[in-house]
Amino acid sequence: MSGTNDRKLRERARRVIPGGMYGHQSAAYLPSNAPQFFSKADGAYLWDYDHNRYVDFMSAYGPNLFGYRNQEVDNVYCDQLKLIDVATGPSAIMIELAEAFCDLVTHADWAVFCKNGTDATSMALMTARAYRDRKKVLLAHGAYHGSASWCTPFPAGTLPEERAHFIHYQYNDPDSLRAAAQEAGDDLAGIFASPFKHDVLVDQELPNEDYARAARSICDDNDALLIVDDIRAGFRIERDCSWHSLGVEPDLSTWGKSIANGHPISCLLGADRARDAFSKLYCTGSFWFSAAAMAASLKTLELIKNTDYLERTIAMGQKLRDGLSDVANRHGLNMSQTGPVQMPLIMFDQADGNRDMAIGGAFADAMLRRGVYFHPFHNMFINAAMTQADIAFTIAAAQATAEEITASK
Ligand SMILES: Cc1ncc(COP(=O)(O)O)c(C=O)c1O
Repeated sequence: MSGTNDRKLRERARRVIPGGMYGHQSAAYLPSNAPQFFSKADGAYLWDYDHNRYVDFMSAYGPNLFGYRNQEVDNVYCDQLKLIDVATGPSAIMIELAEAFCDLVTHADWAVFCKNGTDATSMALMTARAYRDRKKVLLAHGAYHGSASWCTPFPAGTLPEERAHFIHYQYNDPDSLRAAAQEAGDDLAGIFASPFKHDVLVDQELPNEDYARAARSICDDNDALLIVDDIRAGFRIERDCSWHSLGVEPDLSTWGKSIANGHPISCLLGADRARDAFSKLYCTGSFWFSAAAMAASLKTLELIKNTDYLERTIAMGQKLRDGLSDVANRHGLNMSQTGPVQMPLIMFDQADGNRDMAIGGAFADAMLRRGVYFHPFHNMFINAAMTQADIAFTIAAAQATAEEITASK
């Protein structure tokens, strides 16, 4: 069970916060050792209120790319706070940041900034509809694009009408995509695509080239817009849009999470083709133009361009995957590890091939007890502050956990 102090905090929270916590960071969905509240974060580590330290494989569900409290990014952020942050108009840093994104991301000719990923995906949806004044948008079954009423996976409080013009297709299946486009007919506004299939609870899948090319050509043939939602995977796969190396450039891409190493900012990037459509929209927010988060993002883009963070996170991810496979094989555990090694999803199967959520939960729970924050059914994120020693510590914890699980069978 989570520690005494954490339990007391949960009790207090329940009185003043509905359910004690809401959304994706609610520990209600997690194993019993998962703390709800954290007192400190530094580099690759998190501390709870019971003085337990965790090697944090969730990295804030994505924002932590270079380590919590990265000094280079945070110094720039704090310096900017002393000049101007949220004000009556933006700082010129906004232009500098838009230029930096357009330099780094091949398909981007313009950039607009907001706060959360859902702001960016909602603007992408509106841009696609405004482009040729059409309604139908194709979404992959099970893909997550945020928590607004058009896309929340839990539809309480939303109306069926808000989803009336979405048509769903199977990720990685060009025929299913073509069928969905045919159903949309001459009302096709756009296609949303995750960079790879990273839905919760199911194995991750890398995109196949046929699917990505079909998405591009359907949009070209129908004068519709292709949107890659890079909010979760952005800059964790490539130093460009995640479909760049597939040779497929979208018209719009959405970014958030890692782009300022944890400071609150997200963005929508667009090709010239979509510029006029965006210009027709009214999109804004009181905090969207804060200069400090933009300065932090500018510094983060500099680190993305000039350091080997990506190669290091891939090498650490590979070491983790190999080490965990070895542990699982030695203990006869059916562990499935899917997705890019730097964004691993670790789940377990029963002998008959069915998913074993019980072992998955027990494994993550026992890892938490040993100081490793693993998630039982969401993809995780290696960050560049992790070291080989952290990975070795994690593999040793997995070894002890596997021994405990096999002994209790
Ligand atoms: C692919 C994807 N799109 C959109 C979002 C929404 O981002 P936010 O939670 O910042 O609104 C997320 C968040 O997890 C995401 O993973």
